[in-house]
Amino acid sequence: MCGIVGYVGRKEAYPVLISGLKHLEYRGYDSAGVGIIGNDGSLRVYKVRGNVSRLKETADKRAHDGNAGIAHTRWATHGAPNETNAHPHLSQDGHIALVHNGIIENYIELKRELAGLGYGFKSETDSEVLVQFISYNRQKYRCTLAEAVRISLHGVSGSFAIAVIDDREPGCVVTARRSCPLAVGIGTDGSCFIASDIAPILPHTKDVVYPDDDDVLRLSLPEKGGVEMMNIDGERREPTVTRVEMSADQVEKDGYDHYMEKEIHQQPQVMRECMAGRVLLGEDRIYLEAFEQNRERFLNASRIVIVACGTSWHAGLVARYAFERYANTPCEVEYASEYRYRRPVILPTDVVVVISQSGETADSIAAIRPAKEAGAFVYGVCNVDNSTIVRMADAYTLTKAGMEIGVASTKAFTAQVLVLMMLVAEMGRAKGVMGGEEYRALINDMVQLPQHIDYILSDESAIRRFAATLLPCRSMLYLGRGNQYPIALEGALKIKEISYIHAEGYPTGEMKHGPIALIEPEVPSVVIATKCGEYEKTISNIQEIMAREGRITAIATKGDTVLEKMVDNVIYVPDIHPMLMPILTVVPLQLLAYHVAVGKGCNVDQPRNLAKSVTVE
Ligand code: AGP
Repeated sequence: MCGIVGYVGRKEAYPVLISGLKHLEYRGYDSAGVGIIGNDGSLRVYKVRGNVSRLKETADKRAHDGNAGIAHTRWATHGAPNETNAHPHLSQDGHIALVHNGIIENYIELKRELAGLGYGFKSETDSEVLVQFISYNRQKYRCTLAEAVRISLHGVSGSFAIAVIDDREPGCVVTARRSCPLAVGIGTDGSCFIASDIAPILPHTKDVVYPDDDDVLRLSLPEKGGVEMMNIDGERREPTVTRVEMSADQVEKDGYDHYMEKEIHQQPQVMRECMAGRVLLGEDRIYLEAFEQNRERFLNASRIVIVACGTSWHAGLVARYAFERYANTPCEVEYASEYRYRRPVILPTDVVVVISQSGETADSIAAIRPAKEAGAFVYGVCNVDNSTIVRMADAYTLTKAGMEIGVASTKAFTAQVLVLMMLVAEMGRAKGVMGGEEYRALINDMVQLPQHIDYILSDESAIRRFAATLLPCRSMLYLGRGNQYPIALEGALKIKEISYIHAEGYPTGEMKHGPIALIEPEVPSVVIATKCGEYEKTISNIQEIMAREGRITAIATKGDTVLEKMVDNVIYVPDIHPMLMPILTVVPLQLLAYHVAVGKGCNVDQPRNLAKSVTVE
């Protein structure tokens, strides 16, 4: 939920740290701070309530020499978002500074023990307890900072990605992780870059080390020891360097006003990337490696249990309709935050599908453990390679949507749905539920997805006009049937999370059982009324809304001539195989939410109270 960066190299650390934080603000931005060991050996810490720009305003006024430092952008978990609780946190003796992402679950008892030893605390945070604990162990064992960190990990439960500096060891940064994301870039000149993900690292190097849980790394320039890695037991480990082929500019905005806008418009290319090597038009087949290597597990599954959060959960809901209709496989969809505590009945023949853009969502990670303990097969659908969920799953498929910076998920969602439709098609074909003709028709339609999305993106005028009418709204209804019901939920979530307008997604057929009481001109309805599914019934529902003076915008199939005579606005999407229609109908709803948020002057990429990756419970 927070972002950490660290640097030790041949340049001044300060500008590298500040620019690194800018890449991580999507992870949280209610406070920020930086800590540097100056050339005079002094440890300097600056921290503010507010975002990185606010930190820069404050810290820029001070001199910042020194080639080693750490920095942090926070999404508050323990303690209010204020300067005292901002990171870096200092040890009581003032020698050690630490930044932390994650949650130290036993911080209360640690705090009590340290207080009994005379340690005082300024903040409400678990992170300050950790830095005091490290300081205590460094003193008790008269050891190096790296050793003190390693020893401390034995006494810590919970999750962390940390970067630590000590003014008694200038030119060195120590870093470690457990269950939280961490990447370490290694420059050709020996400089080292620590970050919660690779965005801050890519402008400097493509050579990245992904530490394992409880790895501790001591980083310094080669002439001072270079990159030294050990496990929690102190055994030296050779770091594995991965070459990341994503270029730095790929994580920039490409001329769009916001990351979200860019990522919505990247979706045609994302479909191509996601299908590459998997949808083999020339061979009339789909090849999903995770399925091919685990055919029996998938084909003999007693049921598919999908576990996810938020938008990823909506992708799971779309897939449920397909697993049952096209692969004749029972499918349940669970909120991870419920599944992990509910003590669910999990069968060893279950296939548990964990869908997550970040691969770091705490609730989704926690839901994997009971599934694995019960002997179920865990399959991850993730957008971030080497993420925790990818590492924990028995098999996984990467959505290949590229880095998604906007907090509101868009391209990752459509890629998730596409991967899941590929899996359904593989299973349905292998089980003889999906005939050869339908299978080939589906493949042909999959290959059409990029151009169909291009068509939707080519003219946003109707969406912009509709968005302008929604600015004063305080509530909306989104309605859809069948596999469009999850898209109604997703459309409602999008507009909620970035424009702060309350919106509810509902099955269209359910509207008459209560929500219809909300209908009035001031509460507009968005109805997904494409030709697939129960189109006629949806027309009846639209008439029910109109009879109560409700304003309606319909998402309709291109060529539909009925709806335009009935409703206030119609936004058209091309016709495609019903399994794939949700991928098309969601795009106008993404654009609608975007334009409403821009029209309201909201912070589209960093909506209030939200974070891109909810790595805490
Ligand atoms: C999506 O727009 C939201 N920001 C949020 O619901 C998100 O989908 C959810 O937190 C799950 O994240 P994940 O896919 O990274 O697990």
